[in-house]
Order: sequence, then C-alpha cells, then structure tokens
Amino acid sequence: MPIAFKPYLNKPSKYKGGKAKLQGEIIKLSSNENMNGTSPLALAAVKENLQSINEYPDRTDHNFREALSEYYGPTLQTDQFFTSNGGVRAIDMIMMGFLDKGTEAIFSNPGFGPYRAFPKKYGATSIDIPLVGDNFDLDVNGILAQINDSTRLLLITSPNNPTGTCPKKADIDDLMTNIPDHVVVVYDEVYYQYADTPDYVRAYEYVAQGLPVIGLNSFSKAYGMAGMRVGYGYSTPEIASYLRNIPTPFPMSTLSVKAAIAALKDDTFIEQTVKENQRGKAYLYTELTKLNIQYWETQANFILLNPDMDAMTFADKMLEKNIMVRPVSNFGFDGIRLTIGKMAQNELVIKALQEILHP
Ligand SMILES: Cc1ncc(COP(=O)(O)O)c(C=O)c1O
Repeated sequence: MPIAFKPYLNKPSKYKGGKAKLQGEIIKLSSNENMNGTSPLALAAVKENLQSINEYPDRTDHNFREALSEYYGPTLQTDQFFTSNGGVRAIDMIMMGFLDKGTEAIFSNPGFGPYRAFPKKYGATSIDIPLVGDNFDLDVNGILAQINDSTRLLLITSPNNPTGTCPKKADIDDLMTNIPDHVVVVYDEVYYQYADTPDYVRAYEYVAQGLPVIGLNSFSKAYGMAGMRVGYGYSTPEIASYLRNIPTPFPMSTLSVKAAIAALKDDTFIEQTVKENQRGKAYLYTELTKLNIQYWETQANFILLNPDMDAMTFADKMLEKNIMVRPVSNFGFDGIRLTIGKMAQNELVIKALQEILHP
C-alpha cells in the first residue's frame, strides 16, 4: 500500500508573496508591512531581553493576555484572549477549532487568501459569497441565504485585504442580528489602526453584546513586527478558552512576546505611522487620478489598483524598476495591491507608473 500523503499537502505551495528577499535596492511594497520600521519600544524590549534566550519562554501566555486586557481597558478581560504565532496562525487555530468534514465556512472575495484556502485542510468547504458593488459591500442577503446547519464560520475582514474597503456597519449589524446562534463570526481587523471612516466598527463592540464573534489581530502591520510573528484574537470567554486548548507548545519566542507587550504601549509610533500613511494616501490619490489609473479609496496601508493591464505583466514591469507590488488574482481580483510607503517611495512609485503606463 502506498504512503497516505494528504492530497492538499502533496503539491507545491502557490504562495509567492514570501519570495521577497531579492538582492539590491528593491522597494518592497507587496506585503503591507510598515515601511516606517518597527515600534522603538518593541526594539528596545528585544535588546533588553537578548541575554535571556537561553531560557524557554513563559509556560503560558498569561502575561501577554494580561497586557492585552490592559490595552483594551475594561472592555475585554484576560480570559477573552488567545494568542498565536502570527495572525495567519490564529486563523488556522480558529479553523482547526470549528471546522471538520462536512462543515462550511463562508467568505467573500476579493479577500485574504487563507480564508478561502484553509477550510479544506480540515475537510470543510469554503463558500464564496462575493463582495458586491463599487465599494465592495457585503452581500448580506446572499450570506444569510447560504447559511445552513453545516455552516460553522462566517469570515469578515475590515479593512479588507486586498480592496482596502470596510464593510458598512449597517450590513454587519444586520448580519449579527440575523445569523443563527451556531455560526461563529471571525472579524479580521489586522489593519484597524489605519481605518479612519466614522462608519468603522471593531469586533469588541459585538463581543461586548455576548455575540459569538472573534476579533482577529496581528502585530505585523502598524506595529511593524511582521518578522516576529505575533497575533491574537479575542472573543467571549467561552470561545477564547476553547481556542486556548489547541496545543501548540511554546508558540511564540521570548523576544516576540516581550516586543509585543512593549509595542502595546507605543501610541506615539502608531500615531506617526498612521499620519505618514494618511499623507501617503492623499499624495497617491492625487497622482493616480492625474495618471487616470483606477484605484479604490483605502482604509488600510495599501491601495488596490486596476492598471488596465494584465496584473502579472504589470508587476513584472514594476519589478524591472525595482519596485515590488502584489498581483492579487489569487485573492479573487485581477488587479494590483500596492503598499503605501514613505513619501520618497511613493514618489518613486508614481514615477514608475508614469513610465510604464504613459511612456
Ligand atoms: C487580512 C489579513 N489578515 C491576517 C493577516 C495575517 O498577518 P500575520 O500572519 O502576519 O500576523 C494578514 C496579513 O497580510 C492580512 O492581510
């Protein structure tokens, strides 16, 4: 009898985003990292703790969860958090916790790849109810019509990757009111620091009502810690403690956790980051309009573009100019996602666009 390799593992990975470590002066605007660097408080914590890495990390994540609960004030208690080796791992933990053969998870493309791809790892089916209209709104009726006894998860992202848009609060309210009790809502808010629309809503507003909602977060984006791999989620105490039961011995390194706890206090760095992002996006809006390139107004640190050219060809042309952008066809949209960089980088992007599109 042949070895029983699992079919979903037994093929080459399609993930291309990580091949980013090229030589030379490549400006990497393909992974929505913080182009301003890392929280200085996080960096100081790493330096301070370098001498202790001969020891294992804390046995539990209690200290980290306490720091998170302090950060959120009285809204969320220590037992409402679970932590993970990055946001993607938190997504995987949720799927491991709630999906198995014969169950379904609903997501909406254009959306973050793992929401479509991960359910099948657990024998479940991912069902796409695509975003609708020019603002990529949730199809509330489509989602409600799709929910059945096998539905376990509803996956919402706000601000959404790769569109940069936020679903309307009224639509989310509508869904929260009308979905049956057995469906857990994952509300991915890893870009929340950048959102500036008054209509933006955080997951904790629903968690506070006792609803089965999981707020999903990461230190990879505004805190500038993508290389440290730290993520977390919060929910009702029942759901959070259930997910904490997923055994992952020592999932995060000592330095990652120390850095994350320090970063939570770094409001100054977040303010600077958000301000620089606002400046960058205002500049890009003006210049993209002048260049007549279709783009979508963004609530995050990236912009979705439609350069009116095959996305892969366009990305290659940008790379020839030493700028790496992300074609997002695997996210369900034939376009380009561009991370907003520092001003000097944004200016180089516009120069490259001018040369490529209007030679
Ligand atoms: C929408 C969304 N969720 C989650 C993540 C996970 O981030 P990480 O695993 O780096 O914490 C990302 C990263 O790009 C993302 O865009």
